[in-house]
Amino acid sequence: MTLPEIILKRRSIRRFLDRPVEREKIKACLEAARLAPSAENVQPWRFIVVDDAEVCQRLAEEAFSGIYRTSRFAARAPVLIVILACPGVVANKLGKAIQGTQYYLLDIGIAGEHLVLAATEMGLGSCWVGWFSKRGVRKVFGIPRKYDVVAIIALGYPDPTHLAPKRKKGLSDIVRYNNFDWK
Ligand SMILES: Cc1cc2nc3c(=O)[nH]c(=O)nc-3n(C[C@H](O)[C@H](O)[C@H](O)COP(=O)(O)O)c2cc1C
Repeated sequence: MTLPEIILKRRSIRRFLDRPVEREKIKACLEAARLAPSAENVQPWRFIVVDDAEVCQRLAEEAFSGIYRTSRFAARAPVLIVILACPGVVANKLGKAIQGTQYYLLDIGIAGEHLVLAATEMGLGSCWVGWFSKRGVRKVFGIPRKYDVVAIIALGYPDPTHLAPKRKKGLSDIVRYNNFDWK
């Protein structure tokens, strides 16, 4: 597939087939994430791959309960990838203090998108999950404070009977050339 085809094909997948994902494919996704750019080349990302059903259940119970119940669909994914960030001191302290930008979150977004595009290319479906209990995830893995728990990516073979339509704004809504004329 060409890159435009992969980008067009990617969509959030919330129902997965009951089929395990090969470790080789998971590794290829992680390799794509590893090569992402990052501010000051800090490479703040760390990935906890959960492909053991028991660990997944424990994680789901802690991460997707109470107000986070709407994310329970992710518990049925064969793989959950928890993305942590260990923010770099210079890039992030300066970035946040002077510009108000948390570069490490941009870095994680880019790496995560590399990951899901690689997954798409290999026929896998994915969904970013930002709505989960960080405290619950910390508890399951004993993650210290210096790491931020930024996102979880659910990964697996998509159930073709449950594909949500893509609803995207048009270019005319989101692009201006050489001026700013939004309200
Ligand atoms: C940072 C981020 C966090 C997200 N968190 C969730 C989530 O907690 N639960 C969920 O169902 N989808 C989540 N999504 C998926 C979005 O709902 C989805 O990307 C959006 O509706 C557009 O659909 P598409 O991915 O199919 O293009 C998240 C996406 C991003 C990028």
